[in-house]
Amino acid sequence: MSATAATLSHVYPLGSRVNEHGRLEIGGCDAVELVREFGSPAYLVAEDDLRARARTFADAVGARHADYDVLFASKAFPCTAVYRLLAEEGLACDVASGGELFLALRGGFDPARIYFHGNAKSAAELRDALAAGVGHIVIDSLDELELLERIAASEGGRRQEVLIRVTPGVAGDTHHAISTGQTDSKFGFSPPDARAAIERLAGAEHLDLVGLHFHIGSQLLELEPFRAAVRTIASLGDFPVYNVGGGLGVAYTASIQPPAVLDYVDAIVSTVHEELGADKRLLLEPGRALVANSAVTLYTVQTVKRNVSTWVAVDGGMSDNLRPMLYGSRYEAVVADRAIADANVRCHLAGKHCESGDVIVRDVWLADPAPGDVIATPVTGAYGYSLANNYNGVPRPPVIFCRSGDARVVVRRESYEDLAARDVG
Ligand code: LLP
Repeated sequence: MSATAATLSHVYPLGSRVNEHGRLEIGGCDAVELVREFGSPAYLVAEDDLRARARTFADAVGARHADYDVLFASKAFPCTAVYRLLAEEGLACDVASGGELFLALRGGFDPARIYFHGNAKSAAELRDALAAGVGHIVIDSLDELELLERIAASEGGRRQEVLIRVTPGVAGDTHHAISTGQTDSKFGFSPPDARAAIERLAGAEHLDLVGLHFHIGSQLLELEPFRAAVRTIASLGDFPVYNVGGGLGVAYTASIQPPAVLDYVDAIVSTVHEELGADKRLLLEPGRALVANSAVTLYTVQTVKRNVSTWVAVDGGMSDNLRPMLYGSRYEAVVADRAIADANVRCHLAGKHCESGDVIVRDVWLADPAPGDVIATPVTGAYGYSLANNYNGVPRPPVIFCRSGDARVVVRRESYEDLAARDVG
């Protein structure tokens, strides 16, 4: 049975539509015309959608809790223009490496509102963070605690505020590679080890322990694991600051029903109030739920091969979207030139890379796909750009912000020269 796309599914960015030419329109821009102008593949970001999601999060928490911050978990889309937009929207920021810290500062985040995560931060990264005046460092191990003490002591003896990352022993239902809250994770301290670290920090000369952090995993579609994690960290003492991580799942396809942001925030805030009190500083750090649905990727069909299956091959694939290969993630796809036509051909949407596993969407229905057609895959705003690579020497795509019919390139397409730019011999 074929699937008829009479309207776009709700997984597309807010404001997306099929225009009078029957073509997909994102942020007021015709996707087919964008490919003519800027080429493909390309990441398109609907700027208004991204701003709206940032506001939804901040308003939801602000309506329920007095002292809070929403942190952009920037690993989801570490692009200067995205940092800049979310800084403008008043968010704070989570970075997980020196490189993300560099980009967050470049994007305009106030260092005092940056939280530095990571299970293997180097001495150089910690020194850079202190030198930049990063507000909080989230300590992940005893080795890091000792290293940071030494660095803070040598940097003029200033005091650095820190949080401790706790692994609460709660596993959400998600792909094993993106589950982090379970016992024996590589991240954070188990509750007994966290107690020891808390004791250690009580006597630390240069580090001020202000609170606890957890992040139990990503693309979580149930709320109970978040509540359970709050209950676990509540047993570790009373602190002024609690950071409950990210992890809220999104709809990659119309059949996935993630909790609404309001319900997620409700569950977190009510559990925090019950278990920790209403007077705490509460930090949330969504990545995917902020940025995933705000972007689509555009490709151009190169070949259509009728074998046992129909193979529609495009000009991108695992170099711009590694998620199907890493996590078996499923996406929707549409022929942007005929976005409301009957999706009458069952096919595999394949990438251009030299691996059989480079299939963007298996068993997807497309409307008479032919070479030259533009294909759009929605929900590529999270971890598409950040996991992009140059496999097969394929240059990485541009990022194009679309708003009210205007398109502006915020990251240019990589060139072949870029591929050789680091060669020194
Ligand atoms: N906070 C911390 C400490 C994290 O490690 C993460 C994600 C987040 C927040 C944001 O989680 P989110 O709200 O995006 O679920 N590459 C994988 C996802 C890895 C997530 C890593 N940490 C993917 O493409 O699914």
